[in-house]
Amino acid sequence: MSIIFQSKSHQTHSHQMKVIETIGELRQRRRQLAAPVGFVPTMGYLHEGHLALIRRARAENLSLVVSIFVNPAQFGPQEDFSSYPRDPQRDLAMLAAEQTDIVFTPSVAEMYPPGFNSWVEVGQVTERLEEASRPGHFRGVATVVAKLFDIVQPTRAYFGQKDAQQTIVVKKMVADLAMDLEIVTVPTVREPDGLAVSSRNAYLNPEERPAAAVLYRSLCLARQLWAQGEKDAAHICQQMTALIQKEPRATIDYVSIADPETLEELEVVKPPALASLAVKIGKARLIDNVVLE
Ligand code: PAF
Repeated sequence: MSIIFQSKSHQTHSHQMKVIETIGELRQRRRQLAAPVGFVPTMGYLHEGHLALIRRARAENLSLVVSIFVNPAQFGPQEDFSSYPRDPQRDLAMLAAEQTDIVFTPSVAEMYPPGFNSWVEVGQVTERLEEASRPGHFRGVATVVAKLFDIVQPTRAYFGQKDAQQTIVVKKMVADLAMDLEIVTVPTVREPDGLAVSSRNAYLNPEERPAAAVLYRSLCLARQLWAQGEKDAAHICQQMTALIQKEPRATIDYVSIADPETLEELEVVKPPALASLAVKIGKARLIDNVVLE
């Protein structure tokens, strides 16, 4: 396999996958792709959640571009940029098996050359939920995603429902800046105990891993209370909080029931409402959500 990746291109079932590191070459190759072009931006360390996005993009488009770029601009100074899990060889093998046409793997210097100083700031929806613990995170996400969209020129780009706020921010940016592509949201992939699949699950040790199922259990409780007629958002959040607090390894960052477009907190739950949370378990800060509808 390593020989194949050294050569930056190889054959699998007569399908050729190009691995491209520069913006210039990507733009050149992009012109040769058949439209529609599906695009899945990732930070690598691919898992079943990414594969759900990639397979959907493959099925709905004639060409498939995937990017792997651990974006320093979306990590805070105390966050896990340097320790973020990486496994490029395995990622490329997985992408070749999914009939990916182009994998874009730029360096940090390629995306943020010396003197880089232009940022995309999406207002309001970035100011809630994740922003309190991760100031500047969505500025980094919006900037890199805007740049990737401009380079790749996709017809459709695919994002996971697990990162609900990110998807909302990207949709708002695309609408506000009249970017010419469609954003497709793909349902969250879960482990058998309900834990949402995420690269950061790799931080959980064997004792912490079962405890992480408490996120989804609390979201199921929210859904159950809502289904039973409970409309008081504060009461649902209290019940979720009480359930999570029974798990000694879990520390709550936030529990929220918000409008799924504006992310404003709701007092009275009216569908559709986004129940979301962030919880720390050991070194892992995990997020998850369900839509109450
Ligand atoms: O969701 C992610 O993996 C990242 O935030 C993204 C969209 C690839 C931007 O860096």
